[in-house]
Amino acid sequence: MKTWVDGALVDAARAKVAADDHGFTVGDGVFETVKVVGGRPFALTRHLDRLHASARALDLAAPSAEALRLAVAELLAANAAELGDAPARLRVTVTGGPSPLGSARGTAPPTVVLATAPIAPWPGEVDVAVVPWRRNEHGALVGVKSTSYAENVRALAYAAQRGAAEAVFANTAGELCEGTGSNVFVGLGGRLVTPPLAGGCLPGVTRALLLEWTDAREVDEPLADVLDNASEAFLASTTRDVLPVRAVDGRALPAAPGPLTRAAAAVFARRSAAGDDP
Ligand SMILES: Cc1ncc(COP(=O)(O)O)c(C=O)c1O
Repeated sequence: MKTWVDGALVDAARAKVAADDHGFTVGDGVFETVKVVGGRPFALTRHLDRLHASARALDLAAPSAEALRLAVAELLAANAAELGDAPARLRVTVTGGPSPLGSARGTAPPTVVLATAPIAPWPGEVDVAVVPWRRNEHGALVGVKSTSYAENVRALAYAAQRGAAEAVFANTAGELCEGTGSNVFVGLGGRLVTPPLAGGCLPGVTRALLLEWTDAREVDEPLADVLDNASEAFLASTTRDVLPVRAVDGRALPAAPGPLTRAAAAVFARRSAAGDDP
């Protein structure tokens, strides 16, 4: 497998960034995970738009969409034989580049890395655990897909210790927010709802497509009410699409998948099969 590093394709095992890269030293970077289906990237325009929005928020000079599209095509062509037609993920990472050993960024150009790997299949349904830590909906990184993911690493480990496949955060107001790598949709009172972006969740590409393609609505819901009253729930993300939740903190939901989840999964599968770049 090849990895694309600052314009060059190198063997993945030999791909390197500098030891003083600001992404490595302080998590100063942004990234995207794009699904690759049958060798073609899915929703690439939306992902590149979000990458540029994240880069603007951190004042990072990301390459143009045109340059990134060429890099994506180059990488997928180089790895076509290894990836075959199986679903894969393609990650684009842009960091602050080589910098002094502190929080101030240096003057070097950003580091840009593109890498691919197969997507490991998810089970048909998963359990989730609510973590004791909160998402800060007032923070500087709200809505930014930054490489500072240690909070997510910690939360996912917390969930795994409890036999769950995803961790769910509330925000500082105690409202349902998101997972470590997914947005959350819940059936409440017969309707499909998901937290609004103002509540601090990432503007997920899958979330946005589901809001366009289904009757799901953005509503702030106190986490406690969601946990008590949800008839069903699912996680939405690039690698999961629509993934039913079986239980929250060990308590089984009434249905998994419930009728709203089934309908959302069906429409997502149908509409996403209809075009690579919705
Ligand atoms: C924190 C977080 N929320 C939500 C998502 C889902 O976003 P998308 O549908 O664009 O993959 C992700 C994706 O990895 C994420 O990291």
